[in-house]
Amino acid sequence: MNAAFPQLDVGGRLRHLVTLDGLGRGALEELLERAESFAGPAGRGDALKGLTVANLFGEPSTRTRASFELAALRQGALVVNLDNALSSRAKGETLLDTVRTLQAMRVDFFVIRDAEPGVQERVARAVGDTACVVSAGEAHLSHPTQGLLDALTIRQCRGGFDRISVAIVGDIARSRVARSAHRALATLGVPDIRIVAPRAMMPEADAFAGASRCESLDEGLAGADVVMMLRIQHERAGLAEPVDLAAYRRDFGLTAARLAHAAPNAIVMHPGPMNRGVEIDPEVADGAQSVILRQVANGVAVRMAVLAELAEARRVRAA
Ligand code: NCD
Repeated sequence: MNAAFPQLDVGGRLRHLVTLDGLGRGALEELLERAESFAGPAGRGDALKGLTVANLFGEPSTRTRASFELAALRQGALVVNLDNALSSRAKGETLLDTVRTLQAMRVDFFVIRDAEPGVQERVARAVGDTACVVSAGEAHLSHPTQGLLDALTIRQCRGGFDRISVAIVGDIARSRVARSAHRALATLGVPDIRIVAPRAMMPEADAFAGASRCESLDEGLAGADVVMMLRIQHERAGLAEPVDLAAYRRDFGLTAARLAHAAPNAIVMHPGPMNRGVEIDPEVADGAQSVILRQVANGVAVRMAVLAELAEARRVRAA
């Protein structure tokens, strides 16, 4: 991320949400507070009344896309969904042409997921103040609303961030979920973040600053208050050899027996989609310590909060 990227406006408010980089603890806490206000079953708002949101997803997605769509609808927006792979991009139109075309139809928000790094930033630079860009996942690099929903879930279940140990387990090297969770949790003051992975899935040495690294699941889990499991990102390049799933499950799969190494009331998280019987056993995924569906519920609330914040800041700039 280029340091000069203008994600914040001159008033210091968000004009896009492309990354959590550069957002301080106060800014994250405000977003979590706002999300909390939408987290109940009655969570509704009208912050996007009269505005239009386009979901541009260039990679498969079930929950993130549905979550952004429901968040926009529950804030009163009109929503249009475009699957890039099936629309004009496949005919050679650049994403910027697609964006300009949609702007001519008065689209105000672009929610973008793409396998190519930098797409969200490029669109944000191009639209400037005329629209808001929200990342729904950028390559292996970042997934800011996922980081926020993970933080919200941890805050609800653990009461805060100051005294907890969080173990993030699995294909860390290629995980945007792990990167954004680490960014959010480190900023919010979590003192002990562990990344737990086989050597082949460990990220480069300068990534995940401040986190400890562990190649043994049992050691990585010892006494942890939060256990965050990840899917193996088979679709991304970077592994020298195909993964032996039976060996992976044996060494890094979260079974009930292994979870017993964590703190007695540890919560179990997973961004989905899960591979039951690989990185997580069904009895753990569906067990009493699992908060996986709470993460899904919080995803809508967080996205409602982000959309509302962006819409509000935009109105202030326009005034
Ligand atoms: C994740 C993603 O797409 O980055 N899923 C999600 O957003 N819910 C993680 C994954 O695909 O493994």
